[in-house]
Amino acid sequence: MDTRPLTSADTAPALRDAASSPTPAAPADAVPALQTALKRTGPVVPRKFRDLLALDDFERHARRRLPNMIFQYVAGAVETGSSLSAASDAYKQWRFMPRMFVDVSGRDQGVELFGTRYRSPFGIAPLGGAAFAAYRADLRLAEAAKQAQVPMILSASSLIRMEEVIAQNPDAWYQAYLAGDQPRIDRLLDRVERAGFRTLVVTGDTPMLGNREHNIRSGFSMPIKITRNVALQCALSPRWLLGVAARTFAFHGTPHFENTDAERGPPMMSKLVRNTIARDKLAWEHVEAIRRRWKGNLVIKGIMSPEDVRIARESGANGVILSNHGGRQLDCTVAPLDTLPLVAAQKADMKVIIDSGIRRGTDVLKAFALGADFVFLGRPFLYAAAIGGTEAISHAISILADEIDRDMALVGVRRPMDLTMAALTRSGPHLP
Ligand SMILES: Cc1cc2nc3c(=O)[nH]c(=O)nc-3n(C[C@H](O)[C@H](O)[C@H](O)COP(=O)(O)O)c2cc1C
Repeated sequence: MDTRPLTSADTAPALRDAASSPTPAAPADAVPALQTALKRTGPVVPRKFRDLLALDDFERHARRRLPNMIFQYVAGAVETGSSLSAASDAYKQWRFMPRMFVDVSGRDQGVELFGTRYRSPFGIAPLGGAAFAAYRADLRLAEAAKQAQVPMILSASSLIRMEEVIAQNPDAWYQAYLAGDQPRIDRLLDRVERAGFRTLVVTGDTPMLGNREHNIRSGFSMPIKITRNVALQCALSPRWLLGVAARTFAFHGTPHFENTDAERGPPMMSKLVRNTIARDKLAWEHVEAIRRRWKGNLVIKGIMSPEDVRIARESGANGVILSNHGGRQLDCTVAPLDTLPLVAAQKADMKVIIDSGIRRGTDVLKAFALGADFVFLGRPFLYAAAIGGTEAISHAISILADEIDRDMALVGVRRPMDLTMAALTRSGPHLP
């Protein structure tokens, strides 16, 4: 499957071949070449995205577009950054042993998850405060995910009402940050169910917020304080200031944390900000109570220990998301990929999903080879939203889908699920 809109670089050779064929001597060659080129030509990548060739390119562009405090809010990781780097470094430890002369035509990267068939094996992770970085970002993420037929998880810490997001994309999932307070949880679940969500993700790695020194250093705070430093940063980022901040306030008023509880949360400028009290009381007994009440799919996010995967399974979860929160919670955690084989061994009929540090098609395939059923990515899609809304997110999705398709062919498989550990080896010499 070639899902990526073609660039002129893709189509030029065929068009050039067709055009340069001497007529009428070789019309038989020229016409099919031209037809193929035209058939394959989807929407041409807009000029402004031409140098966005890989997901890492989006970060570079977003850094230029956003005030430093907003960029750091998205990019940052806690303390030494070792959880963040470990998560992505783990992917570099594995190398492929590709197989040749395998018929890899008819490749299909689609994957079924919780009764829905997705066109690609990846989705958009929950991104709290996404609308700080891009205008109405959650709606843009939901829209692009719907167009590409991949899942998108709406964060509890989002600034757009969940009811609006699910109207945009009826397949969106909802991610909850819960306090250990059952009546409050029950009221929220009723709202989520009424809104029409079918998949609930409960994040477990946030009994307290991680130590986000990067936010203090860059001037990002909640509630947002307009210091001289912050005012200067905003003035130096006019496109963000007008296109995101001013536009949001002008058309929608002060953003509120809309989806943490059954009731609307406080405005982001308020001293109250979010009621995060008692998140440290959340325990497995609450998960069990949620399971009894919630009829849809239940996914536990932020798990890393195989022992917790076993408990999640026994508590009736349908899936787990193995994640170190992109390095934003505890520093010095194990890399999610490193525990994946042990975790996958515990899954029985649960789905094992992984995120944190995935940036390439090869990363996605490595995760599948080590036992994942699906993967999610966070930051790259938010950078894309900041650069160019739905269109740029769609471009990011198509880049990754295209890499996966090409990599499956080169590794020698037709579907991500066909990958096993036999496709991989640890990097380093292999002695006889
Ligand atoms: C700006 C930002 C906000 C996030 N907010 C949430 C959140 O509200 N809930 C949650 O479970 N995870 C949240 N995460 C973590 C992501 O869901 C995901 O686990 C992580 O970004 C994956 O790592 P990656 O960014 O390297 O792909 C957030 C991550 C970022 C970058």
